[in-house]
Order: sequence, then structure tokens, then C-alpha cells
Amino acid sequence: MDQISKAAEIIVSANTVIALTGAGISVESGIPAFRGSQGLWEKYDPMEYAHIESFRRNPQKVWGMLAELYKIVMKAQPNPAHYALAELEKLGKCQAVITQNVDALHQKAGNERIIEFHGTGETLTCMACGKKYEAKNIDFDNPPPLCTCGGILKPDIVFFGEPIPSDALHQSFLLAESADAVIVVGTSAQVYPAASIPETAKSRGAKVIEVNLEPTPLTGRISDVFCQGKASQILPAIVNKVKEKLFGAKY
Ligand code: OAD
Repeated sequence: MDQISKAAEIIVSANTVIALTGAGISVESGIPAFRGSQGLWEKYDPMEYAHIESFRRNPQKVWGMLAELYKIVMKAQPNPAHYALAELEKLGKCQAVITQNVDALHQKAGNERIIEFHGTGETLTCMACGKKYEAKNIDFDNPPPLCTCGGILKPDIVFFGEPIPSDALHQSFLLAESADAVIVVGTSAQVYPAASIPETAKSRGAKVIEVNLEPTPLTGRISDVFCQGKASQILPAIVNKVKEKLFGAKY
């Protein structure tokens, strides 16, 4: 059986299916990933631009990168991979999407149960007084954006050195412990604790399906099925196979 059919078979036989997504799922929406030759961390040193201490020390500098990213993310639209996960949820075959992304494209695609493991870029908080702002109301042309109190705004994303939001952490590992199948899409599986979600699920007997352009530390060790290729092609193909198995017709 080919990898797509194997993946669909696992999904159809599972009671609880979860997805773990990373930057790779949004690459085809025009948002660069972090690692790899086209990745953001090739241009910016993550310790200088993504660590909370760097942001506190020099928010102006970090905002140079953030503003550039915001301008891309604010006009990005979901691609067929995001829509495929939303369709899987409607079919009752995706109980939750746990995402490391902060671009809100799963929400835009129509998924309802989403856990934002690394926070969200949709809102920002004043570092001085704690007032909240919505990204859609912010002018990213003259960073750093300021609060009415004069304080600097920080996106509600998790920087290195900051904890994972406790509710997201708790919910994710509860799901990992109860899932029968995990679909891991477009993550290099190098950042913990997110990368331990498939490992935890696997240790409790779940099957792991991996969708990625290239092998990762999960491949062949944790993943039962490795579908190599673009998420925007692989995920719709898996969903079509799932529908074929559920309803009998060809899609
Ligand atoms: P990475 O940039 O580390 O990995 C992206 C993965 O997506 C790689 O394994 C690519 O091979 C794969 N990929 C790229 N394009 C793809 C496509 N079209 N289809 C399928 N796969 C594709 O991104 P993450 O694993 O999400 O954290 O990074 C994890 C965390 O590191 C991020 O959440 C961020 C970053 O530092 C924080 O900012 C806290």
C-alpha cells in the first residue's frame, strides 16, 4: 500500500486524531519557515531576534524583523493543506490541531479546535501596562508599535526563554496521551516541548503520520508513515482517500 493510503487507513480506523503543525504548512501561503536554506533563521540569529531577553534589551531591533514578518502574515491566506485539515475536522476525523504557528491560518481555514502552542500574533500586549491590542489595528510601518501609555507592544507569541502557555501545554499533552493517531505536518521537530507531542502519543500506542518535504528526527523512529512532499498536495490527497474509505466514492 502506498503512504497516502496507509495514512488514510490509520485515520479512518482511529477514534481520536490530532494534528501537530509547524511553519512548513504555511510556506505555500507565502510565509517563510525558520530553518532550512530559505528559513528566517538564516537571515536572523534566533538568539538575537527570538529570545525574550533580546526583545527586552533591544525591542527596536527585534521589531525590525517582526514588522517585516507581520506585513507578510497579515495578507497571507490559508492554502490547500490548511483547508484539508479543516475538512478532516468536519468529517469527525481531526479532534484538534495543535499548531506551533502564530499566523492564525488554521482559524481562517475553518478549524474550530486549535491549540496555539507558541501563542498568537493576532494580539499584542503592552510591556509597561499590560493593555491588549489587536494586530489588525496596528501600523507596522513605523516599528516599534507603542501603547497609549508610551510602553512598547510585544506580540503574544512565545519567545525563546518564555514558558509555553500553561493551558495549551496541558491540553496538548492530554490529547497526545489519548490520541490514536497524530498527523505531524511541516515541522522540523527540533523545538521542545512541541517535538515531544508525537513521541508522547507514540509511547501510548498512537500511530504517527508525518508529512514533510524532507526527513526529520521523527522519521523512521517515531513516524509510522512518512509522506514526503508538499503539504498542500499531500494533505488533500490523504483527505480524499479518507473520504473514499468512509463513503465509498472516488474523490
Ligand atoms: P521549521 O522552520 O523548523 O521547520 C519547517 C519544516 O517544514 C521543515 O522540516 C521543512 O522541511 C518543512 N517544510 C517546508 N516547506 C514545506 C511544505 N511546503 N510542505 C511540507 N513541509 C514543508 O519550523 P517549525 O518546526 O515550525 O518557535 O519550528 C518550530 C519553532 O521554531 C517555531 O514555532 C518557532 C521557531 O523558532 C518560536 O518562535 C518559539
